[in-house]
Amino acid sequence: MTVQCGYIQFRPELGETDKNMARIESLLHHADGAQLLVLPELSNSGYQFVSREEAEAFSEEIPGGPFSSFLIQWARGHRQYIVAGINERSDSRLFNTAILVGPDGMVGKYRKMHLFWDEVDLFDPGDIALTVFNLPFARLGMLICFDWMFPEVWRILALKGADIICHPSNLVLPFAQQAVPVHGLVNRVFIITANRTGTERGLKFSGCSFISDPLGRTLHTASREEDEVYFTGLDTDRARYKMITPRNHAFKDRRPDQYTLLVSDAVDKPS
Ligand code: ACM
Repeated sequence: MTVQCGYIQFRPELGETDKNMARIESLLHHADGAQLLVLPELSNSGYQFVSREEAEAFSEEIPGGPFSSFLIQWARGHRQYIVAGINERSDSRLFNTAILVGPDGMVGKYRKMHLFWDEVDLFDPGDIALTVFNLPFARLGMLICFDWMFPEVWRILALKGADIICHPSNLVLPFAQQAVPVHGLVNRVFIITANRTGTERGLKFSGCSFISDPLGRTLHTASREEDEVYFTGLDTDRARYKMITPRNHAFKDRRPDQYTLLVSDAVDKPS
């Protein structure tokens, strides 16, 4: 089935939650015809907080907060699915979260597991199991930015049946745009990485949001600096074909009996 999927790349402003929401709304008006859209990490609040107190000041509860409510209302009215990075407060905890909303309201959320750099001082590590959501047109998984470094999470979502992995990001290291499509190749899934642009407190974000296919090919890349709304047709059936050669299957050829180290936290252990 061909599904119109894409991303919105833009430049959230630190702590400007109302302004960011208004900017997102104005960009969404350019996405008529898209069925699934992915927005960057922490798209409501910005990223480079100096303290947990500051991060918390621009957080909200899900689904009751203003940004969540806006997304739910938009998705209902426009019959679209949206994945968006959001700064989530839950009781005394703070999470770097991705929310998934659709025509029937909130569908689910994912909380970033692998926190990057000073994020470890700001957010609690994700505590929700990796989940694949069954949409009418595709099975969808979510990861957030630095999660990209950990092949295990891509594999788990693919093993759980994801066709498309949505990847809200605030990328700063120069590797992900090359490396992430390889996760798509080895797992035979589509990936939508929605990155942000701009600089916050000296930290420069790398733009170049992209969509890659189950052969690891980048179908489209945004510019480094400009806002962009982009979507294109993805044939989700292609993500269900897991043969690498006529005699090799991406999943069935695995050797889990040899992978036991992967489920221990041991490192640097000479055999
Ligand atoms: C990142 O995880 N925002 C680099």
